[in-house]
Amino acid sequence: MIPASSPEFRLDGKVALVTGGGTGIGRSIAEAFVGAGARVVVSGRREEPLLRAVENLGGEEHVAVAPGDVTSGVDRGRMLDTAVRTWGRLDVLVNSAGRVGATGPLERLQEDEWSALLAVDLTAPLLLAKEALPLLRKQGGSILNISTGASLRPVSGFGAYAAAKAGLNYVSQVLALEAAPRVRVNVICPGGTDTPIFGTFLESEEKIAEIKKRFAEMTPLGRLGHPRDIAAAALFLSSDAAQWVTGAVLTVDGGMNLE
Ligand SMILES: NC(=O)c1ccc[n+]([C@@H]2O[C@H](COP(=O)([O-])OP(=O)(O)OC[C@H]3O[C@@H](n4cnc5c(N)ncnc54)[C@H](OP(=O)(O)O)[C@@H]3O)[C@@H](O)[C@H]2O)c1
Repeated sequence: MIPASSPEFRLDGKVALVTGGGTGIGRSIAEAFVGAGARVVVSGRREEPLLRAVENLGGEEHVAVAPGDVTSGVDRGRMLDTAVRTWGRLDVLVNSAGRVGATGPLERLQEDEWSALLAVDLTAPLLLAKEALPLLRKQGGSILNISTGASLRPVSGFGAYAAAKAGLNYVSQVLALEAAPRVRVNVICPGGTDTPIFGTFLESEEKIAEIKKRFAEMTPLGRLGHPRDIAAAALFLSSDAAQWVTGAVLTVDGGMNLE
């Protein structure tokens, strides 16, 4: 758990929606937020990880579930409604839901894979941000989009994924301009982080273990990221400690992007 004793780093009384909040980085962000006093709606397509989050993060007093697909307008509406119906407000939106796909050379890119990737990694977080803005504006709030370090430089084999996330960085900064001064919008670009998504493009557990080892060796700080590393930055950016921070694109990657 992240130490969150200083009042400006706390989220007491605040309500957050975390997409992808049942697993990995989103789940760790939900945990950090609850630890800092927030009530959190977690969403994702599978109900089981969401129910586990409720159980492990202190029960229905602290966590509500809104199962759904972020590419569906109806489901996104239900996610926002859950926050309002359950706790009467929304202060923080975290778009952590994402997928890695369409890996390989761009020359082999399939149009349907490209569309599916853009739908989850760019269109959905943009539309959810847009749809959440009227709620966030009421009392002031913030949006945090989870991008990737790969969006900041050309990475062979990840062109489609990284392009979608580079687009997310861009629209986040435009939103930061347009939503100011009531709502702040920031981005975290994680490096390789030990979650279920890592290596999903590989065909065997051995290959995944091998690439994790390689990533750890290539990272200046000498290890893969833990979801908690990203959650610590997310807590800062979503709290009043960051009240003068908007449009930031923060790498949290053990120095990987310096290489
Ligand atoms: N781990 C890394 O190395 C790394 C590095 C850079 C960036 N990131 C980014 O970090 C974010 C979180 O990923 P993670 O590492 O925490 O992996 P993860 O545990 O696999 O999280 C991805 C989450 O997104 C949800 N999701 C995927 N498609 C969805 C959809 N169509 N509708 C609703 N929810 C959907 C998944 O839940 P369901 O399957 O239940 O829907 C899951 O909870 C992603 O945006 C990813 O691109 C990760």
